[in-house]
Amino acid sequence: MSETDPRAKLRELQARYAAQPESLGWFEDLYQLYREGEPVLPWAKLKPNAPLVEWVEGQAALPGPEACVVGCALGDDPAHLASKGLRVTAFDIAPTAIELARSRFPEAAVIWMTANLAELPRELQGRFDFVFEANTLQAIPAGVRAKALPALFSLLKPGGVMLLVARAREEDEVAQGPPWPLALTELTLPDLAAIESVEKFWDGEGLPSQRWRIVYRRLG
Ligand SMILES: C[S@@+](CC[C@H](N)C(=O)[O-])C[C@H]1O[C@@H](n2cnc3c(N)ncnc32)[C@H](O)[C@@H]1O
Repeated sequence: MSETDPRAKLRELQARYAAQPESLGWFEDLYQLYREGEPVLPWAKLKPNAPLVEWVEGQAALPGPEACVVGCALGDDPAHLASKGLRVTAFDIAPTAIELARSRFPEAAVIWMTANLAELPRELQGRFDFVFEANTLQAIPAGVRAKALPALFSLLKPGGVMLLVARAREEDEVAQGPPWPLALTELTLPDLAAIESVEKFWDGEGLPSQRWRIVYRRLG
């Protein structure tokens, strides 16, 4: 594995699971390798996502008090939101990610959980005023994503707000992943949530890529 291409290991592991298209087991494998010191997590920047930090700074008041961070990885985004006074629940499919997040932020007012967005526990449904999701939908194959997108909205209370960040592609571009950049129509469920704003921006971190930052409001 090249040290400059952490995605090589990710793609190799994902391909090993290709015979089980519903399985997302490669994420746990990656976190175990990361814990052993291998540079296999391209998203492990050990700081909160810049599009979240910038958005939070621009809000007169954050939607709250109950917030959820989906696919929380090593915990930087939940810890950031908790530092702003929100009561945060954060979950990830990989138990090792949750162990690492909990040990990195022992003082943060965050409830850490292992959970699968595509099989969302009932206790999380309809509970949150604010949901943040970055770069998870694009990392999972289309078959699982079809269940994951409505599940994201189902976390929200009626009228709740979701901020989503994902790699962007044009409608007619072909996605080759992982990650699989997403067209705006793949991120739209008008029966469940209204889009309040959409921005497309160049992400300067790592290899430059275009991303969406979308704000939704859950319909009542
Ligand atoms: C590409 S990483 C992004 C991590 C983080 N949100 C960020 O932007 O830095 C995707 C994360 O989502 C988690 N994940 C993947 N599928 C998931 C699912 N179905 N439910 C919950 N978490 C999931 C992975 O374990 C991983 O931590």
